[in-house]
Amino acid sequence: MARTAVVSGGGTGIGLAVAERLAAQGDDVILVGRREDVLAGAAERIGERASFCAADLETVEGAHDVLQHASERAGRIDVIAAVAGGNVAAKAPEDLPKGLERTSWSWTANLRLNVMTAVHLVEGLKPILNDGGRILLFSSIAAFRGSGSGSYGASKAAMHPYAVDLSAELGARGITANVIAPGYIEDTEFFGTAMTEQRRTMLIGQTHNQRPGRPDDVAALAAWLASPEAGHVTAQIIQANGGALAGR
Ligand SMILES: NC(=O)c1ccc[n+]([C@@H]2O[C@H](COP(=O)([O-])OP(=O)(O)OC[C@H]3O[C@@H](n4cnc5c(N)ncnc54)[C@H](OP(=O)(O)O)[C@@H]3O)[C@@H](O)[C@H]2O)c1
Repeated sequence: MARTAVVSGGGTGIGLAVAERLAAQGDDVILVGRREDVLAGAAERIGERASFCAADLETVEGAHDVLQHASERAGRIDVIAAVAGGNVAAKAPEDLPKGLERTSWSWTANLRLNVMTAVHLVEGLKPILNDGGRILLFSSIAAFRGSGSGSYGASKAAMHPYAVDLSAELGARGITANVIAPGYIEDTEFFGTAMTEQRRTMLIGQTHNQRPGRPDDVAALAAWLASPEAGHVTAQIIQANGGALAGR
């Protein structure tokens, strides 16, 4: 029987690559994001194994919508990949005064986008997660070395103890919880128009394999962690960064 995976951020970038790979391996996938048209396009690209649920996971209501969709579509689920996230630090409203107001906005917004979207998704779906299930959280190289604002790296670092606690809570049921921390990954919407050729060259130069990461690099790791054979790997933070930051 096919497993069912719920992938937040499944309409673009890393989340889409994760969903495509899981579907190619025979899983049914439920894509979650806020933009219905983007999700519809992604689901069409994946084919009959995909459905989608447009929901804002910063809200509890969004998590309820995903639970309802997953319950109706599949009854129970096997994989939760909480990929949705991003860095809002540079996107503060222009009329916001510089200083404490702007800093407070940036921290609150990044915590909502990166922590609460994952918490709402995982906690909302936990009641229908099967024994032997897989939980994947998404951190970043920024959780280890910062990203300039403090708020993005800190929000990603919150995934690390969350995975450990989920693993301890659910491990007796054969459920694993792990974190993937990517380095610089191209072909996503993450950087918007902010990436310059100079910065790109600098980021690639930090890697040992002298290339940018691609969504498929991360998806391959995610698919293995989500597989039944990965049952003894849990409570881990696994980096995918081409050597830009050594394991720790
Ligand atoms: N690209 C990199 O270099 C890199 C490096 C390290 C870590 N990461 C992490 O990898 C993950 C995936 O990012 P990406 O690179 O693939 O960028 P991306 O293409 O911008 O993907 C982010 C996804 O999250 C969804 N999303 C954002 N806010 C949401 C919300 N409130 N509710 C539901 N869905 C929401 C977006 O869809 P909607 O806008 O339609 O909601 C989008 O599909 C993120 O957690 C990011 O922090 C990325």
